[in-house]
Amino acid sequence: MTVVDARTLADMLGPWRDGAGPLGEKLGRRLVVLVDKAALPDGTRLPPERALATRLAVSRSTATAAYRLARGQGRIESRQGAGSWVRGPGGPAAGAGGHGAAPHHPPDSLAHDEEAFSALGRAVDGVVDLSLAEPPCDGTTRAVLSQLDPDWLAAGMRGTGYHPQGLAGLREGLAGFLATIGHHATPDRMMVTTGAQQAISLTASVICPPGSTVLVEEATYPGALGVFRRMGLRVVPISTDQFGPVPEVLAELCTRTRPALVYLIPVGSNPAGTVIPPARLDALADVLSRHGTVLAEDRTAAPLAEPARVPAPLATRLPRGRAVVVGSVSKIAWSGIRVGWVIAPPELMRELLSARIGADLAASLVSQLLTQGLVPRLPQLAATARTMIAEGQATLGAALARHLPEWEANDPQAGAWRWVRVPGDARLVARAAAAAGVLVTPGPVFSPHALLTDHLRIACVSPADVLVDGVSRLGRAWEGVARATHGGTDDGRDLLII
Ligand SMILES: Cc1ncc(COP(=O)(O)O)c(C=O)c1O
Repeated sequence: MTVVDARTLADMLGPWRDGAGPLGEKLGRRLVVLVDKAALPDGTRLPPERALATRLAVSRSTATAAYRLARGQGRIESRQGAGSWVRGPGGPAAGAGGHGAAPHHPPDSLAHDEEAFSALGRAVDGVVDLSLAEPPCDGTTRAVLSQLDPDWLAAGMRGTGYHPQGLAGLREGLAGFLATIGHHATPDRMMVTTGAQQAISLTASVICPPGSTVLVEEATYPGALGVFRRMGLRVVPISTDQFGPVPEVLAELCTRTRPALVYLIPVGSNPAGTVIPPARLDALADVLSRHGTVLAEDRTAAPLAEPARVPAPLATRLPRGRAVVVGSVSKIAWSGIRVGWVIAPPELMRELLSARIGADLAASLVSQLLTQGLVPRLPQLAATARTMIAEGQATLGAALARHLPEWEANDPQAGAWRWVRVPGDARLVARAAAAAGVLVTPGPVFSPHALLTDHLRIACVSPADVLVDGVSRLGRAWEGVARATHGGTDDGRDLLII
């Protein structure tokens, strides 16, 4: 068995104090990263908390909090009298299986969901919401919905209201739309879901055994992270560069962690807005094929990229039966319709249907009919959404350059947000911003390890005047944070109790 002493572990931890936040939390997160990078292999015996605390010159309670966090995330185990040791990525995740009762919510999943989705359904007068990136219900959508033929709707409502796989006519229409954005799918391989969110959740539930590993981009969609965490899965990030996940890293993680699923957003990644180019998709497909790994490809944002520049799905580059693709009309029509889909090979479709019947029997028939009525207009709605987002991006880019020149905003290839590096702690900035009446999303909610503490996601779908007002409020909030941070402590928390 490998034993790591306090001194060696202290060296391995590196600059773990960087960034703001309680010391125990930062230390615990760094421990989790070391385990996931296999720098601390499975079974490694860790130094006693007291020894580590002395070596790091922190209080014993800091070391205790760090071990507790790593234990809560299933990375280490401890037993009274026997000490603590690493439970590597191959072992069961916290709360899954084993002899003890699995907690309903793994310790960090509630906090994650609350932080990531606190703005949902809660518009507050006078507050500018730059955290949500869903476009408003477009006039065309409203017009089409209000002009649907009542007789046609009434005919659609005859007979049973339960269609577990979804209305055949809708599936046909959606398959036709997907073909216009480079994805050729047959309607019998498609199940209509309550948004892409349910598609992700059902997919994980049929593919991932309890305690198994899911690989994700190092910054990814918080709704998917929430699903995986709640299921007690071990979520491990794949390093990315400007083209997307790095194939060599994916190969190494596939070998080491034997993931049950790899979840990727190849077009319009959330939050970076990357479109993975074909050569990189081929390299990733090669790795996934060699390892026989199953892919869940999220193409929810695919209609937001210029159709001519959308590569064919990664799923189509894999051997048959190794991938599911999820998507929805949320980004181009309206999220309130709650219609999405999952496209899967026949053997998985059977399981997905069974899981869906257990979850909700079927998607709302009314929403399905409304969406069927919208289908002929989806290409036009997508084009309108792209124009609106391009204008929003230009306004947001100019406002950021004016009010926050020291922030580094990326220039996304697809998507209604910018991923921005801030020269400070993103959570502090987000809290100060909220106090100044503008909501943005701090980087840690996009990270499986709550890292990315120096990034924020800022959405651009508000009207231009609201967007500019929001960014100027952000500028004022940032002035306060910068002043507080440089005002005597290396951690502005105490100066900013909001
Ligand atoms: C990448 C991604 N996948 C899935 C979803 C969920 O979308 P839906 O409204 O279809 O459930 C979102 C929503 O923002 C998203 O950004």
